[in-house]
Amino acid sequence: MGLTRVPGLLFGGDYNPEQWPEEVWQEDVRLMAEAGVTMVTVAVFSWSRLEPAPGVYDFGWLDRVLDMLHAHGVAADLATATATPPPWLVRRHPEIRPVDAAGTRLEFGSRQGYCPSSPVFRAATVRLARALAERYRDHPALALWHVGNEYADHTAECFCEESARDFRRWLQERHRTLDGLNSAWGTSCWGQHYTDWTQVEPPRKAPGPVNPTQLLDWRRFSSDALLACFEAEREVLKEVTPDVPVTTNFMSVLRDLDYWKWAAAEDLVSDDAYPDPADPRAHVRAALSYDLMRSLKRQPWLLLESAPSAVSWRAVNVPKDPGVMRLHSLQALAHGSDGVMFFQWRQARYGPEKFHSAMLPHGGTRTRQWRETVTLGADVRRLAEVAGTTTEADVALLLDWDSWWGLEAPESMPSDRLRLHELLLGWYAPLHARGIAVDLAPPDRDLSSYRLVIAPNLYLCTPGQAANLAAFPGRLLVGPFSGVVDAADHVHDGGAPGPLRDLLGVRVEECRPIPDGGTQEVVTVDGTRLLARTWSEWLTAEDAEVLARYRGGPLDGRPAVTRRGAATYLSFLPEDPAPLLDEALAAAGITGVTGAGLPEGVEACRRGPYLFLLNHGTEPAVVPLPARTEPVTALPTAPPTALLTDLLTGRPLPVGPVTVAPRDAVVLKP
Ligand code: GLA
Ligand code: GLA
Repeated sequence: MGLTRVPGLLFGGDYNPEQWPEEVWQEDVRLMAEAGVTMVTVAVFSWSRLEPAPGVYDFGWLDRVLDMLHAHGVAADLATATATPPPWLVRRHPEIRPVDAAGTRLEFGSRQGYCPSSPVFRAATVRLARALAERYRDHPALALWHVGNEYADHTAECFCEESARDFRRWLQERHRTLDGLNSAWGTSCWGQHYTDWTQVEPPRKAPGPVNPTQLLDWRRFSSDALLACFEAEREVLKEVTPDVPVTTNFMSVLRDLDYWKWAAAEDLVSDDAYPDPADPRAHVRAALSYDLMRSLKRQPWLLLESAPSAVSWRAVNVPKDPGVMRLHSLQALAHGSDGVMFFQWRQARYGPEKFHSAMLPHGGTRTRQWRETVTLGADVRRLAEVAGTTTEADVALLLDWDSWWGLEAPESMPSDRLRLHELLLGWYAPLHARGIAVDLAPPDRDLSSYRLVIAPNLYLCTPGQAANLAAFPGRLLVGPFSGVVDAADHVHDGGAPGPLRDLLGVRVEECRPIPDGGTQEVVTVDGTRLLARTWSEWLTAEDAEVLARYRGGPLDGRPAVTRRGAATYLSFLPEDPAPLLDEALAAAGITGVTGAGLPEGVEACRRGPYLFLLNHGTEPAVVPLPARTEPVTALPTAPPTALLTDLLTGRPLPVGPVTVAPRDAVVLKP
């Protein structure tokens, strides 16, 4: 049994039958069967159709849709339909429309136009969720609850009066007293001392840079406010249908929401992923977000939406080349998804997404797109046994939302070139190229299952997090500008690396951002030349060995990389982290899943006993597989000389290196 009540891997997409006459529905289910669809997401934006007037429900059409789906063996990921409040609710309560930072109240006519803190909106969503749950609690098609849609899409924050009141309540809980708030926000700076709670407002557009702690608290609050919307609905669903799993679709590596907190409130993690076909490195970015999804609950997750080909919301919407939809889908499975789902089933004829690709395009079944949809459905069926299997990673990259929010405060940092997503990718990409499984982890989780932990940046670091890192027995690599501030964004006593000082044995005297395009040379003790870009530091090694020093300029001869015990500190951003990474990997005894290097563009992932080899390139790739002749940990259940079978073709592979065709994949089973 997989994540839902549906066995095997899920296959399907968003299905919007309310946009089509009922005659078309019969064709839909017939073609769903042809493609091997097992689950569809329904009613995501259907509130105005399901509740056309306050408390007046029209479930008839949805009854027919769910009955029809069930009769054809298709399960439903049933949305609570609360992603767009209906016009009657918005006109009755215009105050539920969100307000932007400049004070403009946004009009109806798009989607997700609600203030997350609005009690009227929340109460209305809970009523609808209850009505749906009570109506469909025993419906055999119901496999999964889909709450809201892409929280923080379009509306990540609202600056209205209601939000201001909610923010004040949140602040009172966090800081208790006005003195607590004044001290945390450092209001002695720039004359912001508050004498009454009513003076405290959201960080609306102001004449100059806004108080960074106010902004940090605002980001925490905004994530929590949306989470409260999700939780209010979840509570009702759990009360009425305790056995039906609940999810909401995440948006990959997203700064707005603290997904560690969110994932804890879900039964299963699901993600919407839209790698840009125009970006040749898109699969690396996708891999990082998939590994985040897998790490959030350390269990299989679900790719709930992806594009069969082009999207419609970029400036230029490049379609996927033949084979790429299949390859990207297999990639999600390789990284732990228990299914492949799309936006959407049938391409729309109207609305803002009429040019967004779909499993079944405008041109119908006599199209390349449809043929590829059917082929992929068959592949997903062949891989059914992969469902539920997990990945063990030796390496963790640390990710903390508080720190991310602090680091990216506008207009007040030494450099605004430090962007956390890019810093993560800087380490992730070379690990990925080496076929090394990577988890993401929060800095306060038990890290003892890893052998190497990398903190690309931990700008905000609390004493508790530092103690957790100090207790970690493996190799630790800490990137620059870490341990700078505490939870209130106040610089630690004595400066960076603050609570990490004892662990790392260094003191950062000065940050020295490097101008765009500039470089600073660094040389390791064994003579390897490295190049710093973007960032360097005036570092003092107090109780640490110096592994590399700056060469030239005002930093000439000063420490650049240090080590104390198993903890390495890197005071700059390396243009190419490979030498440092390889040293850390060797010291930790970590090799890639194939036990050898990988050709350019090839991705190798292990999931349970299965080994996925994906060739993202446009030339055939020959992948050496020493795992088949030497007993390496990669395939522990395989006797050294055993033949491997490709699950996608059912064929045993001859002994020796495996050739993977361009934009193709093999899934090896011992
Ligand atoms: C001006 C302002 C100061 C301070 C500095 C920073 O001089 O008057 O308050 O903000 O800029 O450069
Ligand atoms: C997200 C949304 C969908 C749709 C797609 C288009 O996944 O959840 O409703 O808008 O984007 O790419």
